[in-house]
Amino acid sequence: MTSYDLALIGFGGVNRTLAELIHTRGDALEAELGFGLRIVAITDLRLGSLVQPEGIDLAVALGLTGDGASFAQHGGSAVPDNEAVIKTCSADIVVEATFTNPDDGEPAVSHVRWALEAGKHVCTTNKGPVALRGRELSELAQRQGVYFEFEGSVMSGTPVIRLAKQMFSGLRLGGFEGITNGTSNYVLGRMEAGLGLQEAVREAQDLGYAEANPSADIEGFDVQLKVLILANELLNAGLELRDITRQGISSVTVQDVRQASLDGKRWKLVGSARRNADGSVTAGVAPVALPLDHGLAGVSGATNAVAFTTDLLGQVTISGPGAGRVETAYALLSDIIAMHAGMTQASSAKEVANA
Ligand code: HSE
Repeated sequence: MTSYDLALIGFGGVNRTLAELIHTRGDALEAELGFGLRIVAITDLRLGSLVQPEGIDLAVALGLTGDGASFAQHGGSAVPDNEAVIKTCSADIVVEATFTNPDDGEPAVSHVRWALEAGKHVCTTNKGPVALRGRELSELAQRQGVYFEFEGSVMSGTPVIRLAKQMFSGLRLGGFEGITNGTSNYVLGRMEAGLGLQEAVREAQDLGYAEANPSADIEGFDVQLKVLILANELLNAGLELRDITRQGISSVTVQDVRQASLDGKRWKLVGSARRNADGSVTAGVAPVALPLDHGLAGVSGATNAVAFTTDLLGQVTISGPGAGRVETAYALLSDIIAMHAGMTQASSAKEVANA
Protein backbone atom coordinates (compact mmCIF):
# COMPACT_ATOMS: atom_id res chain seq x y z
CA MET A 1 0.00 0.00 0.00
CA THR A 2 1.27 3.44 -0.92
CA SER A 3 1.94 5.74 2.02
CA TYR A 4 2.96 9.40 2.15
CA ASP A 5 4.99 10.99 4.89
CA LEU A 6 3.96 14.54 5.77
CA ALA A 7 5.72 17.50 7.38
CA LEU A 8 3.28 19.98 8.92
CA ILE A 9 4.58 23.55 8.90
CA GLY A 10 2.44 25.43 11.40
CA PHE A 11 0.38 23.58 13.98
CA GLY A 12 -2.53 25.99 14.44
CA GLY A 13 -6.20 25.18 13.88
CA VAL A 14 -5.92 23.88 10.32
CA ASN A 15 -2.91 21.56 10.52
CA ARG A 16 -4.00 20.36 13.98
CA THR A 17 -7.34 19.41 12.46
CA LEU A 18 -5.59 17.58 9.61
CA ALA A 19 -3.57 15.68 12.23
CA GLU A 20 -6.79 14.87 14.10
CA LEU A 21 -8.36 13.58 10.89
CA ILE A 22 -5.35 11.34 10.24
CA HIS A 23 -5.34 10.21 13.89
CA THR A 24 -9.02 9.39 14.08
CA ARG A 25 -9.81 8.41 10.48
CA GLY A 26 -6.45 7.37 9.06
CA ASP A 27 -7.35 3.67 8.69
CA ALA A 28 -10.74 4.38 7.12
CA LEU A 29 -9.17 6.89 4.76
CA GLU A 30 -6.46 4.39 3.82
CA ALA A 31 -9.08 1.75 3.00
CA GLU A 32 -11.14 4.22 0.99
CA LEU A 33 -8.41 6.18 -0.78
CA GLY A 34 -5.77 3.51 -1.27
CA PHE A 35 -2.93 5.29 0.51
CA GLY A 36 -1.81 5.85 4.07
CA LEU A 37 -0.65 9.08 5.69
CA ARG A 38 2.00 9.44 8.38
CA ILE A 39 3.23 12.66 9.97
CA VAL A 40 7.00 12.69 10.38
CA ALA A 41 7.68 16.34 11.21
CA ILE A 42 5.82 19.26 12.78
CA THR A 43 7.02 22.80 13.33
CA ASP A 44 5.14 25.47 15.20
CA LEU A 45 5.91 28.98 16.43
CA ARG A 46 4.87 28.14 20.00
CA LEU A 47 5.74 24.44 20.29
CA GLY A 48 9.02 24.31 18.34
CA SER A 49 10.03 21.41 16.06
CA LEU A 50 9.52 17.68 16.25
CA VAL A 51 11.02 15.33 13.66
CA GLN A 52 10.45 11.58 13.94
CA PRO A 53 11.03 9.69 10.68
CA GLU A 54 9.28 6.61 12.11
CA GLY A 55 6.08 8.64 12.59
CA ILE A 56 5.02 11.07 15.30
CA ASP A 57 2.65 9.82 18.00
CA LEU A 58 -0.30 12.07 17.17
CA ALA A 59 -2.00 11.55 20.54
CA VAL A 60 1.06 13.15 22.13
CA ALA A 61 1.37 15.98 19.59
CA LEU A 62 -2.34 16.79 19.74
CA GLY A 63 -2.23 16.76 23.54
CA LEU A 64 0.30 19.60 23.57
CA THR A 65 -1.79 22.67 24.29
CA GLY A 66 -1.62 25.56 26.70
CA ASP A 67 1.18 27.65 28.17
CA GLY A 68 4.55 25.97 28.53
CA ALA A 69 3.77 23.09 26.14
CA SER A 70 6.76 22.36 23.92
CA PHE A 71 8.08 19.68 21.57
CA ALA A 72 11.29 19.92 23.64
CA GLN A 73 9.54 17.79 26.29
CA HIS A 74 9.04 15.02 23.70
CA GLY A 75 12.40 14.63 22.02
CA GLY A 76 12.08 17.70 19.80
CA SER A 77 13.31 21.23 20.06
CA ALA A 78 11.73 24.39 21.45
CA VAL A 79 12.84 26.22 18.29
CA PRO A 80 10.66 26.09 15.14
CA ASP A 81 13.53 25.54 12.74
CA ASN A 82 11.40 25.55 9.60
CA GLU A 83 14.25 25.81 7.12
CA ALA A 84 16.24 22.84 8.45
CA VAL A 85 13.12 20.71 8.93
CA ILE A 86 11.73 21.43 5.46
CA LYS A 87 15.06 20.88 3.71
CA THR A 88 16.24 17.78 5.56
CA CYS A 89 13.25 15.84 6.91
CA SER A 90 12.14 12.65 5.17
CA ALA A 91 8.64 13.90 4.28
CA ASP A 92 7.26 13.37 0.77
CA ILE A 93 4.75 16.23 1.19
CA VAL A 94 5.16 19.52 3.03
CA VAL A 95 1.84 20.88 4.32
CA GLU A 96 2.17 24.64 4.77
CA ALA A 97 -0.46 26.23 7.02
CA THR A 98 1.23 29.18 8.68
CA PHE A 99 -0.38 32.63 8.80
CA THR A 100 -1.04 34.61 5.61
CA ASN A 101 1.16 37.66 5.20
CA PRO A 102 -0.55 39.85 2.58
CA ASP A 103 2.51 42.10 2.10
CA ASP A 104 5.14 39.72 0.73
CA GLY A 105 3.78 36.27 1.59
CA GLU A 106 6.73 35.50 3.87
CA PRO A 107 7.73 33.32 5.60
CA ALA A 108 5.37 30.99 3.75
CA VAL A 109 6.88 31.80 0.32
CA SER A 110 10.27 30.59 1.60
CA HIS A 111 8.72 27.50 3.19
CA VAL A 112 7.16 26.52 -0.14
CA ARG A 113 10.30 27.34 -2.13
CA TRP A 114 12.60 25.34 0.19
CA ALA A 115 10.27 22.35 -0.01
CA LEU A 116 9.98 22.42 -3.81
CA GLU A 117 13.74 22.90 -4.21
CA ALA A 118 14.24 19.86 -1.95
CA GLY A 119 12.03 17.83 -4.33
CA LYS A 120 9.07 17.63 -1.95
CA HIS A 121 5.45 18.08 -2.97
CA VAL A 122 3.67 21.01 -1.31
CA CYS A 123 0.09 21.72 -0.39
CA THR A 124 -0.95 24.90 1.32
CA THR A 125 -3.98 26.83 2.50
CA ASN A 126 -1.87 29.97 2.70
CA LYS A 127 -3.01 32.68 0.30
CA GLY A 128 0.25 34.65 0.47
CA PRO A 129 2.53 32.39 -1.60
CA VAL A 130 -0.22 31.53 -4.08
CA ALA A 131 -1.43 35.08 -4.67
CA LEU A 132 1.92 36.83 -4.62
CA ARG A 133 4.32 34.19 -6.00
CA GLY A 134 1.95 31.65 -7.55
CA ARG A 135 3.37 31.59 -11.04
CA GLU A 136 7.00 31.42 -9.93
CA LEU A 137 6.28 28.61 -7.42
CA SER A 138 4.17 26.61 -9.87
CA GLU A 139 6.96 26.86 -12.45
CA LEU A 140 9.49 25.75 -9.85
CA ALA A 141 7.27 22.78 -8.94
CA GLN A 142 7.00 21.84 -12.60
CA ARG A 143 10.79 22.01 -13.08
CA GLN A 144 11.26 19.87 -9.99
CA GLY A 145 8.64 17.33 -11.12
CA VAL A 146 6.60 17.76 -7.94
CA TYR A 147 3.10 18.99 -7.09
CA PHE A 148 2.18 22.42 -5.71
CA GLU A 149 -1.51 22.35 -4.70
CA PHE A 150 -3.47 25.12 -2.98
CA GLU A 151 -7.18 24.36 -3.15
CA GLY A 152 -7.75 25.73 0.37
CA SER A 153 -6.45 29.19 -0.49
CA VAL A 154 -9.92 30.10 -1.81
CA MET A 155 -13.24 28.85 -0.36
CA SER A 156 -11.52 26.47 2.11
CA GLY A 157 -12.42 22.86 1.22
CA THR A 158 -15.15 23.74 -1.28
CA PRO A 159 -13.70 22.71 -4.63
CA VAL A 160 -13.36 25.77 -6.82
CA ILE A 161 -9.82 26.12 -8.21
CA ARG A 162 -9.29 22.51 -9.22
CA LEU A 163 -12.92 22.07 -10.23
CA ALA A 164 -12.87 25.10 -12.52
CA LYS A 165 -9.47 24.18 -14.02
CA GLN A 166 -10.53 20.61 -14.74
CA MET A 167 -14.23 20.92 -15.50
CA PHE A 168 -14.35 24.18 -17.46
CA SER A 169 -12.00 22.92 -20.17
CA GLY A 170 -13.33 23.93 -23.55
CA LEU A 171 -15.38 26.81 -22.14
CA ARG A 172 -14.39 30.46 -22.30
CA LEU A 173 -14.52 32.19 -18.94
CA GLY A 174 -15.59 35.80 -19.17
CA GLY A 175 -15.08 36.49 -15.47
CA PHE A 176 -16.55 35.85 -12.04
CA GLU A 177 -18.11 37.58 -9.09
CA GLY A 178 -18.29 36.11 -5.66
CA ILE A 179 -18.41 36.22 -1.92
CA THR A 180 -15.09 34.77 -0.82
CA ASN A 181 -14.68 36.02 2.74
CA GLY A 182 -16.68 34.16 5.36
CA THR A 183 -15.89 36.59 8.17
CA SER A 184 -17.14 39.75 6.46
CA ASN A 185 -20.20 37.89 5.18
CA TYR A 186 -20.93 36.56 8.65
CA VAL A 187 -20.38 40.04 10.13
CA LEU A 188 -22.74 41.72 7.63
CA GLY A 189 -25.39 39.10 8.47
CA ARG A 190 -24.99 39.69 12.20
CA MET A 191 -25.20 43.46 11.63
CA GLU A 192 -28.48 42.83 9.85
CA ALA A 193 -29.58 41.02 13.02
CA GLY A 194 -28.71 44.13 15.04
CA LEU A 195 -25.12 43.56 16.28
CA GLY A 196 -22.36 46.16 16.02
CA LEU A 197 -19.35 45.51 13.76
CA GLN A 198 -16.84 44.83 16.57
CA GLU A 199 -19.15 42.43 18.41
CA ALA A 200 -19.85 40.53 15.19
CA VAL A 201 -16.10 40.32 14.42
CA ARG A 202 -15.45 38.83 17.87
CA GLU A 203 -18.07 36.15 17.17
CA ALA A 204 -16.39 35.34 13.84
CA GLN A 205 -13.04 35.05 15.63
CA ASP A 206 -14.53 32.65 18.20
CA LEU A 207 -15.92 30.55 15.35
CA GLY A 208 -12.44 30.31 13.79
CA TYR A 209 -13.34 32.17 10.58
CA ALA A 210 -11.36 35.37 11.06
CA GLU A 211 -7.73 35.86 10.09
CA ALA A 212 -5.15 36.40 12.87
CA ASN A 213 -5.60 40.09 12.08
CA PRO A 214 -9.33 40.48 11.32
CA SER A 215 -8.78 43.77 9.50
CA ALA A 216 -7.61 41.52 6.64
CA ASP A 217 -11.20 40.25 6.47
CA ILE A 218 -13.00 43.51 7.16
CA GLU A 219 -10.91 45.77 4.93
CA GLY A 220 -11.04 43.45 1.93
CA PHE A 221 -7.35 42.40 1.86
CA ASP A 222 -8.31 38.73 2.14
CA VAL A 223 -10.73 38.98 -0.78
CA GLN A 224 -8.16 40.93 -2.79
CA LEU A 225 -5.73 37.99 -2.46
CA LYS A 226 -8.46 35.49 -3.39
CA VAL A 227 -9.54 37.51 -6.43
CA LEU A 228 -5.89 37.66 -7.48
CA ILE A 229 -5.59 33.87 -7.13
CA LEU A 230 -8.79 33.14 -9.08
CA ALA A 231 -8.04 35.72 -11.78
CA ASN A 232 -4.50 34.47 -12.36
CA GLU A 233 -5.22 30.75 -12.02
CA LEU A 234 -8.49 30.62 -13.95
CA LEU A 235 -8.42 33.63 -16.28
CA ASN A 236 -4.65 33.60 -16.78
CA ALA A 237 -4.86 37.32 -16.05
CA GLY A 238 -1.23 37.98 -15.12
CA LEU A 239 -2.34 40.52 -12.48
CA GLU A 240 -0.49 41.78 -9.45
CA LEU A 241 -2.01 42.76 -6.11
CA ARG A 242 -1.89 46.47 -6.90
CA ASP A 243 -4.03 45.87 -10.02
CA ILE A 244 -7.00 44.84 -7.85
CA THR A 245 -9.00 47.74 -6.44
CA ARG A 246 -10.00 47.23 -2.82
CA GLN A 247 -12.62 48.57 -0.46
CA GLY A 248 -13.73 46.71 2.68
CA ILE A 249 -16.88 46.76 4.81
CA SER A 250 -15.71 49.06 7.62
CA SER A 251 -17.48 51.94 5.90
CA VAL A 252 -20.81 50.05 5.95
CA THR A 253 -22.77 51.19 9.02
CA VAL A 254 -25.61 49.53 10.92
CA GLN A 255 -27.76 52.32 9.46
CA ASP A 256 -26.70 51.38 5.89
CA VAL A 257 -27.57 47.75 6.62
CA ARG A 258 -31.01 48.76 7.98
CA GLN A 259 -31.69 51.04 5.03
CA ALA A 260 -30.74 48.27 2.59
CA SER A 261 -33.26 45.94 4.31
CA LEU A 262 -35.97 48.56 3.87
CA ASP A 263 -35.01 48.92 0.18
CA GLY A 264 -35.14 45.14 -0.43
CA LYS A 265 -31.34 44.90 -0.64
CA ARG A 266 -28.51 43.28 1.28
CA TRP A 267 -24.88 44.38 1.61
CA LYS A 268 -22.25 41.91 0.45
CA LEU A 269 -18.51 42.18 0.00
CA VAL A 270 -18.11 41.24 -3.64
CA GLY A 271 -14.84 40.24 -5.31
CA SER A 272 -14.95 40.18 -9.08
CA ALA A 273 -12.94 40.01 -12.28
CA ARG A 274 -13.99 40.37 -15.90
CA ARG A 275 -12.22 39.92 -19.18
CA ASN A 276 -12.32 43.05 -21.34
CA ALA A 277 -12.71 43.12 -25.12
CA ASP A 278 -8.94 43.65 -25.53
CA GLY A 279 -8.23 40.50 -23.50
CA SER A 280 -7.07 42.33 -20.36
CA VAL A 281 -8.72 41.58 -17.02
CA THR A 282 -10.18 44.15 -14.61
CA ALA A 283 -10.64 43.03 -10.99
CA GLY A 284 -11.66 44.50 -7.67
CA VAL A 285 -13.27 44.15 -4.25
CA ALA A 286 -16.06 46.38 -2.95
CA PRO A 287 -19.15 46.29 -0.73
CA VAL A 288 -22.32 46.28 -2.82
CA ALA A 289 -25.99 46.50 -1.77
CA LEU A 290 -27.40 43.67 -3.88
CA PRO A 291 -31.10 43.32 -4.67
CA LEU A 292 -32.53 40.31 -2.81
CA ASP A 293 -33.16 38.41 -6.05
CA HIS A 294 -29.44 38.59 -6.98
CA GLY A 295 -27.85 35.13 -6.89
CA LEU A 296 -25.30 36.16 -4.25
CA ALA A 297 -27.74 37.97 -1.93
CA GLY A 298 -28.91 34.74 -0.28
CA VAL A 299 -25.38 33.48 0.49
CA SER A 300 -25.20 33.81 4.26
CA GLY A 301 -22.87 33.25 7.21
CA ALA A 302 -19.44 31.84 6.43
CA THR A 303 -20.72 30.33 3.19
CA ASN A 304 -18.93 31.49 0.05
CA ALA A 305 -20.06 31.43 -3.56
CA VAL A 306 -18.42 32.27 -6.86
CA ALA A 307 -20.52 32.76 -9.98
CA PHE A 308 -18.50 32.23 -13.18
CA THR A 309 -19.60 33.68 -16.50
CA THR A 310 -18.99 31.17 -19.28
CA ASP A 311 -19.71 31.29 -23.00
CA LEU A 312 -21.33 27.87 -23.41
CA LEU A 313 -23.06 27.37 -20.05
CA GLY A 314 -23.94 30.91 -19.06
CA GLN A 315 -23.50 31.44 -15.34
CA VAL A 316 -22.15 28.58 -13.22
CA THR A 317 -22.10 29.11 -9.45
CA ILE A 318 -20.03 27.12 -6.97
CA SER A 319 -21.11 27.53 -3.37
CA GLY A 320 -20.03 26.02 -0.06
CA PRO A 321 -18.13 26.66 3.15
CA GLY A 322 -15.46 29.33 2.80
CA ALA A 323 -13.79 29.15 6.19
CA GLY A 324 -13.42 26.99 9.27
CA ARG A 325 -10.78 24.64 10.63
CA VAL A 326 -12.31 21.33 9.50
CA GLU A 327 -13.34 22.70 6.10
CA THR A 328 -9.85 24.08 5.46
CA ALA A 329 -8.14 20.92 6.71
CA TYR A 330 -10.27 19.00 4.21
CA ALA A 331 -8.82 21.20 1.45
CA LEU A 332 -5.36 19.88 2.36
CA LEU A 333 -6.63 16.33 2.26
CA SER A 334 -8.20 17.01 -1.14
CA ASP A 335 -4.83 18.33 -2.36
CA ILE A 336 -3.10 15.14 -1.23
CA ILE A 337 -5.81 13.04 -2.89
CA ALA A 338 -5.25 15.00 -6.13
CA MET A 339 -1.48 14.45 -5.90
CA HIS A 340 -2.02 10.72 -5.36
CA ALA A 341 -4.39 10.54 -8.36
CA GLY A 342 -1.82 12.37 -10.52
CA MET A 343 1.05 10.14 -9.40
CA THR A 344 -1.02 6.97 -9.90
CA GLN A 345 -2.02 8.08 -13.39
CA ALA A 346 1.58 8.96 -14.29
CA SER A 347 2.90 5.61 -13.14
CA SER A 348 0.13 3.71 -15.04
CA ALA A 349 1.00 5.70 -18.17
CA LYS A 350 4.68 4.77 -17.69
CA GLU A 351 3.77 1.09 -17.31
CA VAL A 352 1.72 1.21 -20.52
CA ALA A 353 4.58 2.94 -22.36
CA ASN A 354 7.08 0.33 -21.14
CA ALA A 355 4.82 -2.64 -21.90
N1 HSE B 1 -10.63 34.65 7.17
C1 HSE B 1 -11.03 33.96 6.00
C2 HSE B 1 -12.54 34.11 5.81
C3 HSE B 1 -10.65 32.51 6.15
O1 HSE B 1 -13.19 34.60 6.72
O2 HSE B 1 -13.06 33.75 4.77
C4 HSE B 1 -10.62 31.76 4.86
O3 HSE B 1 -9.70 32.31 3.97
